[in-house]
Order: sequence, then structure tokens, then C-alpha cells
Amino acid sequence: MRKEVVLVTGANGEIGHGLISYLGEKQASRIIALDVQPLEDNLKPYCERAIQGDILDTMLLGRLVADYDIRIIFHLASILSTKAEYNPETAHRVNVEGTLNLLKLAVEQSSWQGKPVKFLYPSSIAAYGLPTLEKKNQSGKIKEYDWNSPITMYGCNKLYCEHLGRYYNFYYRQLAVDEVKHTIDFRCLRFPGLISSVTVPTGGTSDYGPEMLHAAAQGVPYNCFVRPDTRLPFMVMPDAIKSLLQLAEAPQENLKQLVYNVTSFSPTAEDFFHHVKKAFPDAEINFKPHIARQRIVDSWPGDVEDAAAKRDWGWKPDYDEKRAFEEYLIPCIRQRYAN
Ligand code: SER
Repeated sequence: MRKEVVLVTGANGEIGHGLISYLGEKQASRIIALDVQPLEDNLKPYCERAIQGDILDTMLLGRLVADYDIRIIFHLASILSTKAEYNPETAHRVNVEGTLNLLKLAVEQSSWQGKPVKFLYPSSIAAYGLPTLEKKNQSGKIKEYDWNSPITMYGCNKLYCEHLGRYYNFYYRQLAVDEVKHTIDFRCLRFPGLISSVTVPTGGTSDYGPEMLHAAAQGVPYNCFVRPDTRLPFMVMPDAIKSLLQLAEAPQENLKQLVYNVTSFSPTAEDFFHHVKKAFPDAEINFKPHIARQRIVDSWPGDVEDAAAKRDWGWKPDYDEKRAFEEYLIPCIRQRYAN
């Protein structure tokens, strides 16, 4: 008998860390962790197996299908928005072809198992593209189907992969004579900027928030690459993990859409600065906007409407802005760098 497992791609990334630590501590699932980088040592005990490999390696994925009964896929591997702009074609390969490989693996597994494999996919506020800062400031909470004209390769990749998920969920091989009965169960979250007390993001454009905080806690000066008035929605990692797992567990009949916004609070970069300065009064933080990265952030919503997630699967973040900083970020970050 093949073992029933949960597959996590991008296992060594920020969400991967949070998810594997959480699932591992509950000891509820056998985790197969896949990442191009070696998995961090402290995550290894939580995993049935840690594989260092590429989601573009179809032979590797083929062997996974042969070895395991994969019940849930958390496909977290991706090249983030800033990094993607330095090599858009490579980003496209990883973000789109990589996702296509995993979707194909999922339909194959579904047909072996005779039931849909759950496919959890983190999309992003980068899937939106507001044409001007004025529009952004006037638009309030953005709904899932508004302003879907992203200006970054990463945003285009995320939006397109949402559509691929919809295709594999409902229409895969729709002209085949032998009707495909068991496609996948695709579920997608559009995350805001994420902040963790444990890890620092690499290559994103919402990174100024977490970078400012982690730099201050380490006593390192920081130049913030956006203007003080820049507003983005954010969420702390425990809420991101909670939302992923809540969506994974939601009864399918309650889900009226495949893609859901989630968020918790929408600070400006200046609000971030004040929270950080309050906790670390000696922090040396300057605002030195980077024009091109600023333009990207200006095209992302200042807030998103997550009413559908609330309605369909009871989404509610545990951390508002005050609690996020006072009860999670500041104390955990202090402890992290004290050790
Ligand atoms: N945090 C991501 C980025 O900045 C957006 O999803 O690229």
C-alpha cells in the first residue's frame, strides 16, 4: 500500500515553514516536503520525507506519484514579485509551468484514488493592478473580480494559475470520449503581504514591512523602499496558516467560488514605522523610495474585500493590527534575536 501523504512544495519558504511547523506539531499528517533548497534542519523531524528538487523536474514528480497517495497538495513554491522582474521568463517557468506540473500530478492522483485531490494554491494581491494611485486611494476594499490587470510577471503568473486551477477543476480534457470523472478540488487564497516573526521574505515587494521590523530587532539600519503614505493589506503568518487550513477543511458544498481574498489589517508604511519605533526606539529607519518598486506597490490594493471567505467558510483573522504587533510580532521577534 502506498502511504497517504500531504505534499508541500516551496517547503523551505515562509509559508512552508509556518505550515510544516503547525502540521508537524499536531502530528496529524505525513508530510512530503519539496524545495529547491535543502529543508531547514528544524523542520525535518516534522516530515516523512524532505526532497531537494525542482517542480520543473517531471521525472521527480513522476516518482512521487509512483511512491505516494497524495491527498492534499499545498503548492507554495513560487518566485516572488520583485525577484521575478529580474528574470521574467524564468519566473514564468517556475510559477506557471511548475504549477501546471503540479496540477497534472494532482489529476493523475485523483484518477488513481477515485476522488479529487485537494489543491491549495496561494495567490496574491499581486493579481490586482490598479491603473493609478488615485484609483487605488478611491477604490476602498477590492473584490476578487475587480481590477484583474496585474503589472508584474508574478501577478500575471498568479492570476493565470488561478484560471488553470479553474480549468483543471471543472473542464480538464472536456472533449475526451472517456469522460474525466475525477478532476481536482482546487482552492485558492489571495494573500495580502505576509509577516512572520520567524522568517524574512526574499524577493517580494511587500517585504518592506517585515524587513523594517526584523532589521530594527537586530539593530541594523533600514532604508524603506516605499513612501510613508503607502498602504497595503497585511496578515501575520499564524493567520495565513489558519486561513489555508480552514479553506482546506471547508465542506466543498459551501464553497461558492474557487478564489478568495483574505486579509486582516491595512497599515501604511508610516504606521509600520511607528509600531517598530515604539518597540525599538533606537531603530534607524529612513524612507528611500525605489521608483519602480513603489510603482508596483501603488498598483496593488490598499485593502481587499474578504466577505466571501467570511460567508463561505467562516474566515476571521485572530490578529488585528494592535494584537499582531503587541502579542505576536514584537515579543516573538525580540525572543528570536535574543537567542
Ligand atoms: N508578498 C508578495 C510579494 O511581495 C505578494 O504576494 O511578491
